[in-house]
Amino acid sequence: LFAKECDFVWGADALNQLPEADLPEVAFAGRSNVGKSSLVNALTGRKTLARTSNTPGRTQQLNFFNLGNRLKLVDMPGYGYAKESKEKVEAWNHMVRRFLRGRVTMQRALVLVDSRHGLKPNDEEIMEMLDRTAVPYVVVLTKIDKVKPNELDAVRKATEAALKKHPAAFPEIHVTSSEKNIGIAELRASLATLAAE
Ligand code: GTP
Ligand code: MG
Repeated sequence: LFAKECDFVWGADALNQLPEADLPEVAFAGRSNVGKSSLVNALTGRKTLARTSNTPGRTQQLNFFNLGNRLKLVDMPGYGYAKESKEKVEAWNHMVRRFLRGRVTMQRALVLVDSRHGLKPNDEEIMEMLDRTAVPYVVVLTKIDKVKPNELDAVRKATEAALKKHPAAFPEIHVTSSEKNIGIAELRASLATLAAE
């Protein structure tokens, strides 16, 4: 699936601009700067497909990518801190939540969490919303090249323990580094099971 080509389809500023819900979709959620766009690039093997930046608040639209007409990846704006106005951040939050709740083709949400920081209250909030709407989701610990093995072990255990309270969460988490290409093949394999024939 990921060996096929992947094309940018469309960037939606608002929910009345969404592309057709014609394929299974996987959404990338998480705080600003956790590495959502970088993970899209690592998975597709295309360094500049999704725009990344050091500045939190880079992704400002729902960006749809078509993987060989079998699966769509949806890179989303982050929640939490961003170098943008409060109004803009609020509007993105609203759009992300409404999209996750209402999209009929949403097969899975990836909730990305920086392995240096672990779960934050706004991650818990989005996970509770996904629980309520029964959207299955998996937590991905990102940037593991930035933590020592014992730190990774601790954050992994703490995260897995916290997930026990969340009915729509998969109990196992993924650990990745987009920079060092760690855990990317495993995540590809797991997403491939969601693709259309
Ligand atoms: P927003 O669109 O602003 O919400 O951010 P994002 O979650 O899409 O993050 P993005 O992919 O733009 O990455 C943010 C920063 O983290 C960039 O400077 C990336 O180069 C860096 N980064 C992303 N993934 C990794 C990783 O696995 N390891 C390291 N060391 N840095 C990473
Ligand atoms: Mg981004």
